Amino acid sequence: MRILAIETSCDETAGAVVEDGVREVCSVVASSKEFHVETGGIVPEVASRKQLEFIFPVISETLDKLCKSENYRNTDDAVKNIDALAVTVGPGLIGSLVVGVSAAKALALAWEKPLIPVNHLVGHIYANFIESPVHGARGSAVNLPAVCLLVSGGHTDLVLMKDHGDFEYLGGTLDDAAGECFDKVARMLGISKYLGGSVLSAEAAKYPQERPFILFPRPMIDQDNFDFSFSGLKTAVKRYVEQGVNDIPLVCREFEEAVVSVLVTKTMRAVDKYGVKTVLLGGGVSANLRLREKFKKEAEKRKISLFVPPLNLCTDNAVYIASAAFFNRSHKTLVEIFADPSLGIMDTV
Ligand code: KG4
Ligand code: ZN
Repeated sequence: MRILAIETSCDETAGAVVEDGVREVCSVVASSKEFHVETGGIVPEVASRKQLEFIFPVISETLDKLCKSENYRNTDDAVKNIDALAVTVGPGLIGSLVVGVSAAKALALAWEKPLIPVNHLVGHIYANFIESPVHGARGSAVNLPAVCLLVSGGHTDLVLMKDHGDFEYLGGTLDDAAGECFDKVARMLGISKYLGGSVLSAEAAKYPQERPFILFPRPMIDQDNFDFSFSGLKTAVKRYVEQGVNDIPLVCREFEEAVVSVLVTKTMRAVDKYGVKTVLLGGGVSANLRLREKFKKEAEKRKISLFVPPLNLCTDNAVYIASAAFFNRSHKTLVEIFADPSLGIMDTV
């Protein structure tokens, strides 16, 4: 089954075609990132206007790539070979979401194809099901149930995935998301104006020795729940920086270590509590090398399987949206699991 998916939840405009939920046939991602650097963060109005500008070129390029990859004579042939459409319906910026949903609805109507609504966070989980030359065949290798940690610029959530379409929300951040905290600390240190997670991580890696002391707190690490809080950690870094900092790599290393420790400890606590043998990571922050390294160590120690998406599937794209649509197409929970509207497309499924 071939699904063409559209993702426009934030500042990426993406299209992709995936076969049977695991084989990436083609993928296109456009981003309005550069327009948000000056403001040091996303202005939703700017993001949605860029979505409008990018949506048709992205869909058209996705179809061109599909033609090339499968040797179709023209776009009509390509469309005939698409079985369904999928679109992200939330969570996300409403102005951005509406652009993708409207485009998907119009195409579904014109092409007479079913339209599958996908939750963006569920989508991130499915980055682990895509076959990849480096990671090998993945879809069938992922044994469920699994504990999923979703860490992005907007979310930090722990989810128990019992099966496709059967998710239980375990907990999440009470304030800032982990990625947001990375971005704000990077800005505070003057090393990046926008989306500074990877820059901060690169600075942290410059610190020559193992961590000599614990400068910052590990919020909620000892609490017997699956919630997180990162705003206090951000304030602790701010207080420290205000005293005058001349060792940026040290601060980055200490901050990164604090975030990673909390994320790993709480995820592993969920693994123990629910007795699962699989951990799935997803979201932009799962690109963090220190996070990957610590998770790998813990997974080896416990003899459980760890799945981490390839770097290009950590950040927003439509490949995992198509995969999530395939594996969850008959499950209602796809939209309902996390609070956000379906934008009224449920009737078209
Ligand atoms: O999933 P994503 O592309 O967008 C959202 O849905 O939010 O995640 C973007 C987030 C940003 O906060 C970015 O700074 C962070 O992921 N990020 C990282 C790294 N690469 C991206 N954070 C820490 N270390 C990284 N290497
Ligand atoms: Zn995302």
